[in-house]
Amino acid sequence: MDDARPAVLTPDVAPPERIDLGDLVIRRWERDDTEAQFRAIEASYAELHTWMPWLPSRRTREQQAEFIEAAVASWPADGNCNYGIFDSAGTLLGTVGLHDRVGPATLEIGYWCHTGYTGRGVITRSVAALAEIVLVLPGVERVEIHCDAANVRSAAVPRRLGWRLERTEPRERHAPGESGQGMVWARERGDLPVGSGDQSRRAAQDRTGGATGL
Ligand SMILES: CC(C)(COP(=O)(O)OP(=O)(O)OC[C@H]1O[C@@H](n2cnc3c(N)ncnc32)[C@H](O)[C@@H]1OP(=O)(O)O)[C@@H](O)C(=O)NCCC(=O)NCCS
Repeated sequence: MDDARPAVLTPDVAPPERIDLGDLVIRRWERDDTEAQFRAIEASYAELHTWMPWLPSRRTREQQAEFIEAAVASWPADGNCNYGIFDSAGTLLGTVGLHDRVGPATLEIGYWCHTGYTGRGVITRSVAALAEIVLVLPGVERVEIHCDAANVRSAAVPRRLGWRLERTEPRERHAPGESGQGMVWARERGDLPVGSGDQSRRAAQDRTGGATGL
């Protein structure tokens, strides 16, 4: 986190630890999730390694336990609120997280999906729900998704939700699949829901590359 600006996520301004979407439960990690998360990362290694800078090589169970311990110890944990996404039987389907590292009054949302549960809307629905909750927290004006331009499936998430593609710009490559062109997608407090007026026009422009230079 950039120490030069006030923190957006603090213990007093933090999102709920549990979000219930009926068939999906998005909740803060618990110690008992360590093995499920380790296995999900193992099963999804090829996809995650390609795009996620934090997975340059396979993780050990001990490294995974350290991650979970940090998440269990505080909320937010070092500027992050990380969640697991579970089905109603408690199976881990994917993850979504808030990261306080991109600028004033702004939170970044990151995600990955267990490779066995992609293509079902798990991530798109979770991002949509989390964004709406976060955008009414005091001091939060905007949420962003940062992804590499070559990561088509990741970019499809904010595109599907009608977020605005704000810019595509050179950025350092940190994972093997990255092209070095980073996309920044944004949604702001007060943006209209998808399907109404401006937002859907913007989404259409983004899809065609109209106003965004895609
Ligand atoms: C990026 C990533 C999370 C996208 O996963 P995904 O399965 O495509 O995303 P979703 O879970 O939102 O599923 C979307 C699909 O479900 C479909 N879908 C079904 N029901 C849906 C619903 N209710 N709402 C939205 N989409 C739905 C969509 O049409 C879409 O289908 P498509 O794949 O045919 O286009 C996944 O590819 C991944 O984990 N990649 C590796 C890690 C990564 O790159 N993370 C992001 C780094 S920036």
